Formats: sequence, structure tokens, C-alpha cells
Amino acid sequence: MKIAICPGSFDPITLGHLDIIQRAALMFDKVIVAVLVNPGKNPSFTAEERLGMIRRAVADLPNVEAECFDGLLADYVRMRNAHTIVKGLRAVTDFEYEFQMALINRKLNPDADTVFLTTSSQHMYLSSSMVKSIAQFGGDISDFVPECICEEISERLSRREE
Ligand code: PNS
Repeated sequence: MKIAICPGSFDPITLGHLDIIQRAALMFDKVIVAVLVNPGKNPSFTAEERLGMIRRAVADLPNVEAECFDGLLADYVRMRNAHTIVKGLRAVTDFEYEFQMALINRKLNPDADTVFLTTSSQHMYLSSSMVKSIAQFGGDISDFVPECICEEISERLSRREE
């Protein structure tokens, strides 16, 4: 069985992430969306909240599951018997960091490769932090995140500003 890992902070999941997950699901037998518990970025949503939103967003994809992980991605990939890490690339600005991560992960786990999917053009500018900024100021995020989690994000983040 070909298993792929889609890792990330997903704080929160966006339509850009979902696009990459959906396309990976067409290429692999199973896709595991792996949510880093403590990204060291002071996440706005708890790991449980992020995981819950992802599970709702991928509910219609039978070969996709989601879980949290902590520690090194290379170890997690090995533990899940996977050999592929799938990441999305938006622009050249993503490349240097992602290239470095791919090389480090391959050094730490030579049985795993990282493959990059180029983002769909309508998601090129999209990021979790941009979604959060818009939501915090009461803006409309419905074009940027899966419909089923739109309200939860807006409510939760606009409440923080009160
Ligand atoms: O969505 P993000 O924040 O770009 O995801 C980054 C992520 C979670 C893929 C990356 O931070 C990661 O793999 N972290 C786990 C720790 C690790 O393995 N680091 C690489 C060696 S320094």
C-alpha cells in the first residue's frame, strides 16, 4: 500500500491545503494528514481544534485520515510505514525552506522522499496567517477555507479581539 504523509501546522487548514490533500489522495492508496502538535509558532488553535477542522474538511475523502504528531517528521513517517511526504509549493519564496526540509528529512530517513505539488493558481496567495488576520478583523474568509469550518474560525478568532 502506498502511503503519503501531508504534514503541517494547519493553523487552520485552508482551501490551499485541501487542494493538495485532494490531489495527493488521487495518487496514493492512503494519505495521512499529520498535524504538528507544537509548531513553536504559538498556534491560534489547539491541536485538537486543528485536527477536528481537518477531519470535517476531509470527511468525503475515504482514503484520507488525520492525526497529530510530535517530534521529528522523519521518525513519524517511518512509524507510519510511509515512504512519501507530500508538500505544496506556492511560490519561489517557499522553495528554499522546503528544499532544506526535504534534504534534512531525507538524511534523517533515507527511506522517505518528499514530493512537491504546485499549488493551484487560485490559491497562490493563500496562507493560514492571512486567513487569521482577515477573520480577526471580521472579514469574509469563505473563499479561503472549507465551508464546513468557516463559521468556527470566524467566531473563534473574532471573539479573541473582544
Ligand atoms: O505548515 P508548516 O508550518 O509549514 O509545517 C511545517 C512542518 C510541520 C512540516 C515542519 O515544521 C515539521 O516537519 N516539523 C517537525 C519537526 C521536524 O521534523 N523538523 C525537521 C528537522 S529540523
